[in-house]
Amino acid sequence: MPPHPDGRALLIPKSPRLVAVVLAAAALLAAGPSLAAPVAPAARGGAVASAAPDATAAGLEILRAGGNAVDAAVATALALAVVHPEAGNLGGGGFAVVRIGGQAAALDFRETAPAAATPTMYLGANGQPVPGRSLVGPLAAGVPGSPAGLFELHRRFGVLPWAQVVAPAVRLARDGFVVTPRLRGEIAASRALLARFPASAAVWLPGGVPPPSGSVMKLPELAGTLAAYAERGPAAITTGAAAAAIAAASRANGGILTEADLAAYAPVWRDALRFAAFGWKVAAMPLPSSGGIIMGESVGMLERLGWRTLPAGSVQRIHLEVESWRRAYADRFLLGDPATTLAGPAQLLDPAWLARRAAEVDPVRATPSTAVRPWPGSAGAERRETTHLSVVDGAGNAVAITTTLNGAFGCGLLVGPVGFLLNNEMDDFATAPGKPNLYGLVQGLANAVGPGKRMLSSMAPTIAWRGEDVVALGSPGGAYIPTVTEQVLLAVIVDGAALQAAVDAPRVHQQWLPDEVAAEAAALAGGLGDTLRRRGYALRIVPRLGEVNAVRRHPGGVFEAAADPRGPGAAGVLPR
Ligand code: GLY
Repeated sequence: MPPHPDGRALLIPKSPRLVAVVLAAAALLAAGPSLAAPVAPAARGGAVASAAPDATAAGLEILRAGGNAVDAAVATALALAVVHPEAGNLGGGGFAVVRIGGQAAALDFRETAPAAATPTMYLGANGQPVPGRSLVGPLAAGVPGSPAGLFELHRRFGVLPWAQVVAPAVRLARDGFVVTPRLRGEIAASRALLARFPASAAVWLPGGVPPPSGSVMKLPELAGTLAAYAERGPAAITTGAAAAAIAAASRANGGILTEADLAAYAPVWRDALRFAAFGWKVAAMPLPSSGGIIMGESVGMLERLGWRTLPAGSVQRIHLEVESWRRAYADRFLLGDPATTLAGPAQLLDPAWLARRAAEVDPVRATPSTAVRPWPGSAGAERRETTHLSVVDGAGNAVAITTTLNGAFGCGLLVGPVGFLLNNEMDDFATAPGKPNLYGLVQGLANAVGPGKRMLSSMAPTIAWRGEDVVALGSPGGAYIPTVTEQVLLAVIVDGAALQAAVDAPRVHQQWLPDEVAAEAAALAGGLGDTLRRRGYALRIVPRLGEVNAVRRHPGGVFEAAADPRGPGAAGVLPR
């Protein structure tokens, strides 16, 4: 892991033993007066974890310059839009959960369906879904939310000038960055998608092939867009020549995005979803994400089922987690945009409902998913190419941002003049009755396509705190996101695990339908897999579940930062 050029920020290696060494060093440095100067007024340390070393370095640079956690998080997110184009974006959307000055808030900058969207737009004349229509090309794109969303986050809570926060991303796009093996691999894996669109191929398949790892990539069009964004804010992208270029590229490739859609987009501040978890307070993302509700519902069941008292890593703990998720994901079937959802936290986090759900759990047998129905009060579901970043600053302010194009490189269409890709988030709607989305989630009518609607998400940027102890975390992984995030959170707050150990630990997942448990092989070691099979579980081994980036500020100001060894991300600490 290369050191940050400023020589003060410590990028955290992912080996637990080395992490312990770095943390000890960070604590030592925090105490030592020799490192106190020269420090900009607000540079009281902090921690950043993201999916790319260059993006983590951008966040640390902004913290060092006196920015707070919001400034650093926005700078990290914009750097990801350059160096991590499979998920970092200006052409997608996301969610931010913020805890600043002791107050929690949630910013929804999820994409919206274009004004011309209809519930049947992904069906053919025979009423059946047309393969690929909600995934490939700009008909799959929602109205991008990131340009207005990241700007709004900074406008409300940032302390550094906007242009300074955008500057690292401009620099990376203009002066170039080194193509990592991961980026090369992702481009190679999405080669057919990118090759369909000449403007995408011109940038990401120079000479018809993925750029070699180690080569330097410059993105002049994106640099120009970011420079204009630094100067004029989101209007530089959502109006004028940039918006006209986006609408024209969409139209030319069968899409329905218009300049009016782009100009009308507005991010929404929402009350963070609040719940208690084993003595900690949690702020999570409310609808249109299902992520917070799933975690809150699962934790509410686990508290009632005595999960805390069971040994860490035991089959009984996995059993109860899986059964809680089965029920929470069944209830997800009723969720959608806040305007059309058939249920929400008032119903699903209601103590009586949590007690009833917990009471349904058989202590030793798997419940078939067919026997678990969604919340009955009303009649009546990502690959990994989302990305999560977490930042905490010296004052204990914390930001968790999950942002996405949905699938890797979104719908595949790069808008040449502005230099960025459009999302394929429309696939997160229930595009046809009963049809699983990209992540196998089966979704309900509440999540049908409709003009202006926000598609239901699973993204779960999360902040938990107890007194001055603050943890921020989240993950990509579509349907996996809430379960992965919850497992890391519980390891930290219930079992007292070090952040890196919690992130490294093997994971399991259940989402109601399909009726199976997905698991990393190491999670089933020591005979756990056989025991679970005997209890009635169908198991599916997967190479990895999620990619968590997490940070923590302990009382007194020692920081932890952990990037997931499942990916090539980087975590760094700037000592106080
Ligand atoms: N696009 C994945 C999600 O929002 O859950």
